[in-house]
Amino acid sequence: MGFKTLCLGMLCVFFLSHIYTPIPDNIEESWKVMALDAIAKTFTFMGICFENIGIMRYEEFISIIFMMDYTKPLPDEYITVIDTAFLDIPVRLYLPRRKSETLRRAIIYMHGGAFCFGSCKQTAFDFLNRWTANKLDAVVVGVDYRLAPQHHFPAQFEDGITAVKFFLQDKILSKYGVDPSRICISGDSSGGALAAAVTQQVQNDPEIKHKIKIQALLYPGLQMIDTYLPAHRENEHGIVLTRDITIKLVSLYFTKDEALPEAMRKNQHMPVESRHLFKFVNWSTLLPEKFRKDHVYTEPILGRSAYSFPALMDYRASPLLANDSQLQNLPLTYILTCQYDILRDDGLMYVSRLRNVGIQVAHEHIEDGIHGALSYMTAPFYLHLGLRIKDMYTGWLDKNL
Ligand SMILES: *[C@@H]1O[C@H](CO)[C@@H](O)[C@H](O)[C@H]1NC(C)=O
Ligand SMILES: *[C@@H]1O[C@H](CO)[C@@H](O)[C@H](O)[C@H]1NC(C)=O
Repeated sequence: MGFKTLCLGMLCVFFLSHIYTPIPDNIEESWKVMALDAIAKTFTFMGICFENIGIMRYEEFISIIFMMDYTKPLPDEYITVIDTAFLDIPVRLYLPRRKSETLRRAIIYMHGGAFCFGSCKQTAFDFLNRWTANKLDAVVVGVDYRLAPQHHFPAQFEDGITAVKFFLQDKILSKYGVDPSRICISGDSSGGALAAAVTQQVQNDPEIKHKIKIQALLYPGLQMIDTYLPAHRENEHGIVLTRDITIKLVSLYFTKDEALPEAMRKNQHMPVESRHLFKFVNWSTLLPEKFRKDHVYTEPILGRSAYSFPALMDYRASPLLANDSQLQNLPLTYILTCQYDILRDDGLMYVSRLRNVGIQVAHEHIEDGIHGALSYMTAPFYLHLGLRIKDMYTGWLDKNL
């Protein structure tokens, strides 16, 4: 009995120390954040255990948890909600019910989830898109692109651009009463990467007649070639999203080959031919001093890995790798970054790159922000921070779209 209790006690201590993350002082609702983080880390821990025992893969387990949160397309007093498809891409449409004399604005939303998880049907994104449609009296389209690891890059990008091009046709815009000159593409986290990549594509493709008026990127991940930025160092064991898990998931976007995450953890995953791309993510020049702090820049170590994934060098996977002439055609851009976020520096560097070529950027940095806060906007797991980001984002859209 005593021995069993001791073992159980030790297991608990091990478990708690494994999932415990110190919460910075300036974070509001720190107990809630700590609980959310503990829940996320518990699921991670369980997923990794299941994977090691051979029950199921980590990402299969996590995606089951995400799916429990999917909602039905429920209309309300103000908004009609329809699940349909643009060609073969599933989308959820939010159409305001009130009569409108004029054409409406439209927002196309790419949800986050590390390219592996989630849907525009998740409670939080359903809430956000419904809210946006109502507040702006706008048509909102949530895009359910295919997910990794069943579908690797560029499936996600292709679904995104296919859905957007379908929507941008005259006959579809007029069907939904949308003004072609007032369209926005938005996304959060990995959805921010998709939103940025799709916007680059639309703006640079001479065959697409209607262009995007604005883009909004919420704590986006925008590159995978340097995994040792100051934000990666500071948030290695960060809240909800650790460096280890980020790398595990991001590599599933490209392959199931374990060699990639292994090399990424050492930041030695890029080939020699990628040398010319590092100037686009050189944080020692692109990050404001406040974020560089006393971190020391080191040149990339290239050509250490035997595999070859050209996708790692593709700007459709890493929008920060687009060259200046591709960036010059981008529209007015909103970028929101959070201090306690492993992806923070991606957003900050995109702000610099866009401004360097003369693109107008509205940048908001949340000093007490954590990654993924928009996912915590609905009961029982809501944070004021999630609601604050929602209001900042929709407020900016309302003024600028
Ligand atoms: C990054 O910028 C520093 C200057 O801050 C420079 O010395 C270094 O060569 C640059 N590296 C790359 C790969 O662009
Ligand atoms: C920028 O990239 C595009 C697409 O890869 C390419 O066609 C173009 O030549 C590049 N421009 C410059 C100045 O490097």
